[in-house]
Amino acid sequence: MNEDRFEFGKNWKNYAKDVEDEHIRIAEQSLIEALSPEQFKGKTFLDIGSGSGLFSLVATRLGATVFSFDYDIDSVECTQAIKDRFAPNSDWSIEQGSILDEEYLSKIEKADIVYSWGVLHSTGNMYKAFHNISTLVKPQGHLFISIYNNQGSKVTRYWLGIKKEYVNGNEDVRSKLLKKALHELWGRTFTDDFFDTGDPLKSWNEYKKYRGMSAYHDLVDWVGGLPYEVATRKEVTTYFRKKNFELVWQKPNNGTGCNEYLFRKVDK
Ligand SMILES: C[S@@+](CC[C@H](N)C(=O)[O-])C[C@H]1O[C@@H](n2cnc3c(N)ncnc32)[C@H](O)[C@@H]1O
Repeated sequence: MNEDRFEFGKNWKNYAKDVEDEHIRIAEQSLIEALSPEQFKGKTFLDIGSGSGLFSLVATRLGATVFSFDYDIDSVECTQAIKDRFAPNSDWSIEQGSILDEEYLSKIEKADIVYSWGVLHSTGNMYKAFHNISTLVKPQGHLFISIYNNQGSKVTRYWLGIKKEYVNGNEDVRSKLLKKALHELWGRTFTDDFFDTGDPLKSWNEYKKYRGMSAYHDLVDWVGGLPYEVATRKEVTTYFRKKNFELVWQKPNNGTGCNEYLFRKVDK
């Protein structure tokens, strides 16, 4: 993978320094919105593109045996640091690996729950990643993924241009692009919050209610996040239906964010 890449893991390391119990509690809510806590107990949980490691941590606390891997060594180190800090004695292994590397995947056991949130569209080959991930789910197991929503080629081209400029730019260019995106994505919210509550940063400061994330680090992840692909809900559900995955839950996103999908593998 020699193409332009965003350093996801550096951003995760930066975010993870501030992770507290509240972030973990909120991250747990986002997992059990789709799967019940009972579904984790005694099950295997494979976290592909674990990033910060926060969701692997939640799965381990819910009683699953966890295996996490990420392509980016900084993400791997970040996941390891979260484990060392919050769950050092848990049944949780962490490695560097890629969802596009079939030789690596051939050594990995299929899991009851395969989780890959915001990852497959950032690999450089989303449909190969879709195929590979579909082989890692046990029969009757669950696949929980999220994929950037397709808002049409004009919007995709626009953000692709910004991301390429960011990844290839120096500090000044990056800072300029972050400011521009902040204005475009958050300007209206700052204004509404100011007039509604007197605090323009109300939603910004409450952003961690969304999966335990941080508004600033999610903004950096979005502006820099390359490779970048998108898919409509229909494209994703049709693809996985053909592979015998039944859609059991979804959380749509009508903007540039991620549609979330929970599938169950229905074949023997
Ligand atoms: C936006 S982050 C999502 C992190 C985490 N899943 C979450 O929900 O917070 C995307 C992650 O996917 C990882 N990634 C990108 N390409 C990958 C690949 N080919 N195989 C495994 N992980 C990959 C990145 O390094 C990054 O840590």
